[in-house]
Amino acid sequence: MNIATHPLHRRKGVAKRLLCHALHHAVGMGVQKAVLEVRPSNLPAVALYSSMGFKIVGRRLRYYQDTGEDAVVMSLDVRGKT
Ligand SMILES: CC(C)(COP(=O)(O)OP(=O)(O)OC[C@H]1O[C@@H](n2cnc3c(N)ncnc32)[C@H](O)[C@@H]1OP(=O)(O)O)[C@@H](O)C(=O)NCCC(=O)NCCS
Repeated sequence: MNIATHPLHRRKGVAKRLLCHALHHAVGMGVQKAVLEVRPSNLPAVALYSSMGFKIVGRRLRYYQDTGEDAVVMSLDVRGKT
């Protein structure tokens, strides 16, 4: 549900490796598409997902209850990407 890297260890490829690992297992279980929500204001997270090939496919209005912020929906076709 969430991915986070300790602030002292960011920009070292940790999150990318974690996500690749999870996606690799998902593909092994037959998953074809990965979908996630992210706050558009979370530029590091949006950059992380974009760098892995996720594309913006939609928006969920007022998705986050704490701030009322919309969520951006991003999707990645993982078929054949092991
Ligand atoms: C988003 C987060 C998980 C990224 O973790 P990380 O371990 O620093 O990310 P990585 O080092 O694997 O980054 C991989 C790529 O993502 C992009 N990226 C990551 N952080 C970025 C930043 N602050 N600014 C711009 N691009 C960034 C870059 O393309 C980066 O590759 P590069 O360093 O070769 O340029 C981290 O900032 C974090 O824990 N944030 C707080 C929790 C959070 O918001 N989680 C996401 C919830 S949806």
